[in-house]
Amino acid sequence: MPTGDKRNFNSNNNATNQPQRLINADQKRRKIEQQRRSLPIASVEKRLVEEVWKNDTLIIVGETGSGKTTQLPQYLYNGGFCQNGGIIGITQPRRVAAVTVAKRVAEERCVELGQQVGYSIRFEDVTSTSTRIKYMTDGLLLREALLDPKLSRYSVIVVDEAHERTVQTDVLLGLLKDVQKKRSQNSNGASGNYDHVKKDNNAKEKSNEVRKLNPLKLIIMSASLDARGFSEYFGGAKAVHVMGRQFPVDILYTAQPETDCLDAALVTIFQIHMEEGPGDILVFLSGQEEIESIEGLVRENLKKLPEANQKLLIYPLFSSLPSEKQMKVFTPAPVGFRKVILATNIAETSVTIPGVKYVIDPGLVKVRSYSPDSGIESLIVVKTSKAQALQRSGRAGREGPGKCYRLYPESRFEGLDDSTVPEIKRCNLSNVILQLSALGVDDIIGFDFMEKPDRMAVIRSLELLYLLGALTDEKKLSYPIGHQMARLPLEPNDSKALILASQFDCLEEMLIVVSMLSVESIFYVPRDKLEESRTVIKSFSSPEGDHLTLVNVYRASIEFLEKNKTENGNEKAEKNLRKWCKDNFINNRSLKHARDIYNQILENVERMGLKISSCGDDMLPLRRCLAASYFLNAALKQPDGTYRVLANGQIAEIHPTSVLRRSKPECIIFYNLVQTTRNYVRNVTRIDYLWLAELAPQCYALKDN
Ligand code: CDP
Ligand code: MG
Repeated sequence: MPTGDKRNFNSNNNATNQPQRLINADQKRRKIEQQRRSLPIASVEKRLVEEVWKNDTLIIVGETGSGKTTQLPQYLYNGGFCQNGGIIGITQPRRVAAVTVAKRVAEERCVELGQQVGYSIRFEDVTSTSTRIKYMTDGLLLREALLDPKLSRYSVIVVDEAHERTVQTDVLLGLLKDVQKKRSQNSNGASGNYDHVKKDNNAKEKSNEVRKLNPLKLIIMSASLDARGFSEYFGGAKAVHVMGRQFPVDILYTAQPETDCLDAALVTIFQIHMEEGPGDILVFLSGQEEIESIEGLVRENLKKLPEANQKLLIYPLFSSLPSEKQMKVFTPAPVGFRKVILATNIAETSVTIPGVKYVIDPGLVKVRSYSPDSGIESLIVVKTSKAQALQRSGRAGREGPGKCYRLYPESRFEGLDDSTVPEIKRCNLSNVILQLSALGVDDIIGFDFMEKPDRMAVIRSLELLYLLGALTDEKKLSYPIGHQMARLPLEPNDSKALILASQFDCLEEMLIVVSMLSVESIFYVPRDKLEESRTVIKSFSSPEGDHLTLVNVYRASIEFLEKNKTENGNEKAEKNLRKWCKDNFINNRSLKHARDIYNQILENVERMGLKISSCGDDMLPLRRCLAASYFLNAALKQPDGTYRVLANGQIAEIHPTSVLRRSKPECIIFYNLVQTTRNYVRNVTRIDYLWLAELAPQCYALKDN
């Protein structure tokens, strides 16, 4: 074919393509506009903006999917709340929600993410000086308050998903109440200033001055229809209800209790896929591990179906999923295909995925649980509350009638608690106390919480901070340790481990440990490859335990990557690493995430002036440092091969995924305690019992006396 022709063909193609693309972009914009207008919240836009002008604190309640999170900040932006350069900050309990919603809103506004609309979560900041609508996690806003106690850059703070009552949300509510007080003391005549801004189109020039004078507008958003609690807490604040739209949902129960929930979920997915009409399936699972395990099983089983029935697309959705993967779940399935979304609790109220018609609810959720007696926190899988079960089934009826398959008998539903206990009542409070101390709040018991934490839990958490050396005898933040710990975006124990590691000359290794433990499941083992994987994984295992094994994996991956980069260039090296991960049963996305976290914490500790050094191949210092930092999580072997946690006498087994599950050393240190049907300790390393008295005399020597 003559080149001329070809070029001609190409350019012709371009000529027809160009307007086509424009039309597509235009169509897309129009479609989005139409979607936005059809959301239940759209009918009350004007009223909401007016109410926010009139009230410094407003509570907005509305069903999930009514458009609160994506629309309200835009209404406020258009309504003039950023005119003076102020930022609208929207907090989310979950990273995934902050990221996906920010992306969606940037798309709706046709702006580049990170410019007018952005997000900021731990270890990832996608904002700029021009950002005016900023989605973030509640924990991140708390950290910002450390640097800017009056949150002076913000004109409005929206605390979203307040019904979830995470501990960070509860702390934030108390803090914001205080900030609001401080800001209105500063202002001359509260809302009057806003009227001035509203009418003054040249307000920009006066920006800084005006912003400082403005009181903070505070909006609490919740999906639970009872706003009374929030209203009372905020001195009788006004509540606005946004009417939702909900189609009927058929609720189906199992006849008998299920013994294997994963199996029951799997069977139900295929039952729906084979027997029911079009519509996507949303399955609620308790964590990344369950999700990945079901993902594998669905894929395997799908292959066995006739080709015409294989049109099922699987989308996992959990917090530590990299953000580019999180967005995929919102893409509609191609015609003839069905999506199955395997999600954690994220999909309960935080994010709404269009297209869902079938919900599978095993009725379980993973939560934090704290025992003040022992001072030990664990993750436990518990039954959902009734409110949660209703929220979950509601996801099936957003766009039309739907079905919800509860994988338990109806009688169990009746016995469920009405609502979930706020997290502050069931978690270790040492992180909260550390954060509040850094903000100058020393009297935790006297702090104005919406719901007071348990006194005993406070005392225990204070004690832990004291044992870690973060607090002085007067319960003030110690210098430098307490201050350093408060600056690190980590749990107090992990922060302490890093600080100590610089003294033990193993900071590099401890950084690896903390980063690898910040992501869930580094290893990914399909069920049918269990035996094969054991042999492969063995090449990384350290006889001393899981922490050291993680260090080996990390080091091996970096070595592989660096070598490949010099030989093949960056892009090819990353691709090869993906293959290397697959061959070694390592979860590539978790590993990449851990690498990002490593680099960020490294920056933090460098700024703090900690000495970065490595213990090389002799990992003894690392093990000793682990014992010195996680001393509360020490356990001794019992004659029957189980372990007794020294701090509370609780009996637990080493988790089957641990490299120490067979060798069972006398004394161990563990990172997590997980309770399902049995008690398991996970991420375990062998230590010497005598180290405890030597390295944590504040805890163990006292006990012996
Ligand atoms: O906050 P609320 O639950 O009231 O609703 P929202 O999160 O603002 O969601 C409003 C609508 O936007 C829903 O129909 C979602 O399906 C849609 N949405 C979307 O299509 N893509 C996203 N990334 C986020 C929301
Ligand atoms: Mg929302």
